[in-house]
Amino acid sequence: MTPPRLAWTWKRFEALSLDELYDALALRCRVFVLEQGPYLDPDGLDRVSWHLLGRDGQGALHAYLRVVDPGAKFSEPSMGRVITSPELRGTGAGRLLVAEGVRRIDEAWPGKANRISAQAHLADFYGSFGYAAQGDTYLEDGIPHVEMLRAAMGACLTKRSQGGGPG
Ligand SMILES: CC(C)(COP(=O)(O)OP(=O)(O)OC[C@H]1O[C@@H](n2cnc3c(N)ncnc32)[C@H](O)[C@@H]1OP(=O)(O)O)[C@@H](O)C(=O)NCCC(=O)NCCS
Repeated sequence: MTPPRLAWTWKRFEALSLDELYDALALRCRVFVLEQGPYLDPDGLDRVSWHLLGRDGQGALHAYLRVVDPGAKFSEPSMGRVITSPELRGTGAGRLLVAEGVRRIDEAWPGKANRISAQAHLADFYGSFGYAAQGDTYLEDGIPHVEMLRAAMGACLTKRSQGGGPG
């Protein structure tokens, strides 16, 4: 299946328009509260995050994630609330979304590792972007999760140039 074409917007909380914030919270509510909840989605960390929104040609929001600042959730920047709309699941949209998120993180925090609390069944998906599981799985809001760390790009390159693994 051809992956969808999505236009990306990357903004701090205070720079989001009312429509952008409303659309993001509506998609998050649909997925995390209705599909996976009950769950209190607005957790206060949105104010200290970057927000990535992916819209189709008609302007509908189909993909979203946020990146919480270092020091707020983990000491590293942390990607989370990773969502594609139910209509686009399985089309490659999720892969496009995480690739765009990782690219923005590397631009915003060059040379810094980032950490996620991933739903455990998606460990292979995140692993394909360079995230490595750390520690045991744990329950977060009733769903098994695992912490995963993506090493700083510089660290990966140094390891490779020294003949090490992908890091
Ligand atoms: C996770 C999510 C963003 C993936 O989006 P998507 O549009 O289906 O992703 P893609 O079509 O690009 O598929 C990406 C990969 O994820 C894998 N994947 C998707 N859903 C999966 C699931 N429930 N279990 C295991 N793997 C899954 C696919 O098999 C695919 O692997 P491949 O590229 O090796 O074939 C989407 O399913 C979603 O929004 N889920 C609900 C919210 C959620 O749980 N977010 C994750 C929080 S950590």
